Amino acid sequence: MKLFLDTAHLSDIRTAHEWGILDGVTTNPSLAAREGLEFPELIARICEITPGPVSAEVVAPEVEEMLAQARDLTAIADNVVVKVPMSKEGVTAGARMVDEGMSINVTLVFSAAQAILAARIGATFVSPFLGRVDDAGNDGLGLLHDLVEVYAAQGYDTQVLAASLRHPVHVVEAARIGADCATMPFAVMERLFHHPLTDIGMARFNADWEAYQRALAAGRG
Ligand code: E4P
Repeated sequence: MKLFLDTAHLSDIRTAHEWGILDGVTTNPSLAAREGLEFPELIARICEITPGPVSAEVVAPEVEEMLAQARDLTAIADNVVVKVPMSKEGVTAGARMVDEGMSINVTLVFSAAQAILAARIGATFVSPFLGRVDDAGNDGLGLLHDLVEVYAAQGYDTQVLAASLRHPVHVVEAARIGADCATMPFAVMERLFHHPLTDIGMARFNADWEAYQRALAAGRG
């Protein structure tokens, strides 16, 4: 399963890239709005940091306007993936983007039925929002399970990008269920590293090593 960051924050993207574990980035209008840069400039800078797919969302009510935005976004860098919302207009525009050779990510997906539509138009990614399903009192991982099952039964090529992940258990369960990619906030990615027994083990190894060096030095003295 590929690991994506769900952020537009440049220093976090740079840090995750340096860790060697970053496969791509997803942004959305809310995340971009926090960064204080013009959107094309922001996307260009993210694409300079990571060679992986960078999702940039179109924000327009109509098909022609979405297409115009998509053409501008894909002109920024080769690794831009156009995010389109799951709506009649988004799907219509997305189908035309695919015909024009663009990679698209169908976002705001909350049912397997919607995910079938994303696969039928040849989307590269489909993004089910697990955390928001949980927030509404339903079963986000259950949604992911349904979607992966339907895609496997149909042999669809569209990659399932588990989104709106809130904690490491979401990430592990997404991997177990068979998501192709998981996108998460920086804080969640950082938490993947941590285990208290690792910290205790490292402290003990370091203390034992220092005691050993001191004993050798005393023996020589
Ligand atoms: C995915 O591409 C979305 O940007 C994202 O995962 C939304 O997550 P949220 O529910 O935490 O806003």
